[in-house]
Amino acid sequence: MDPIRDMLIVENAEAAARAAADRLLETAVAAGGCASIVLSGGATPRAMQRLLAGEPYAAAMPWERIHLFWGDERLVPGSDPASNFGAAREDFLDALGSRPGGVHPIPVAGDPERLARRYEEDLREHFHRQGSVGPVFDLIFLGVGADGHTASLFPGSPVLAETRRWTAAVKGGRPDLWRVTLTYPVLNRARQVVFLVTGADKAAVLRQMSTEPQAMLPAQRVRPHAGTVRWIVDRQAAGGAGTDQGVT
Ligand code: 6PG
Repeated sequence: MDPIRDMLIVENAEAAARAAADRLLETAVAAGGCASIVLSGGATPRAMQRLLAGEPYAAAMPWERIHLFWGDERLVPGSDPASNFGAAREDFLDALGSRPGGVHPIPVAGDPERLARRYEEDLREHFHRQGSVGPVFDLIFLGVGADGHTASLFPGSPVLAETRRWTAAVKGGRPDLWRVTLTYPVLNRARQVVFLVTGADKAAVLRQMSTEPQAMLPAQRVRPHAGTVRWIVDRQAAGGAGTDQGVT
């Protein structure tokens, strides 16, 4: 596994959120046509998501060309505080109304396996419409758990070995729920992956991934074949390292 290379260390979580929102804006503008974007779940992306509802992003982002997907979802109603889609609605989607070109939440009501298949069908239809052979996202945002998981790809899960399907149903995480997640066949086709990691509780796992490339934690196995991986981390997650190191 490659050690973490392309890392932007910023002062705090607010600066990290702004750097991530800027990356989204740059990617969407550069895409020219449709920009296919994956949002991550959990608490970390919420500061970025809230920025997207305000200026300059609400006006500057080419929302009509953006299609939003999720890296994973907990199989709970959108009104549940654990819902990643519910959080995005609260943070910025409701404020944007019908402006995004497409919003593709993971279906959550029903049998987990069938829901995973339905999400994969949505993905296939989207990329077919884009004339893309495979699930090539312009930008995939990901977080990292303290155990090194990303999306809902947890250490020791058989889903880590999936090489064909684009989605999977898994049980686990905190909260311990049924989830639908993207798999490595999708994550590793991305043009660009951005890990957004903040907070002192992530310092140990970030240090482990930086110093033990061979650890093979799920987040370390995100290695796009023809894309880039960037890390946007705050000083707390970086273990107090300096700011703006490794900026590229
Ligand atoms: C999820 C997320 C998950 C998250 C990490 C970090 O739905 O749980 O996709 O992979 O990114 O667990 O979560 P926090 O940002 O809450 O620390």
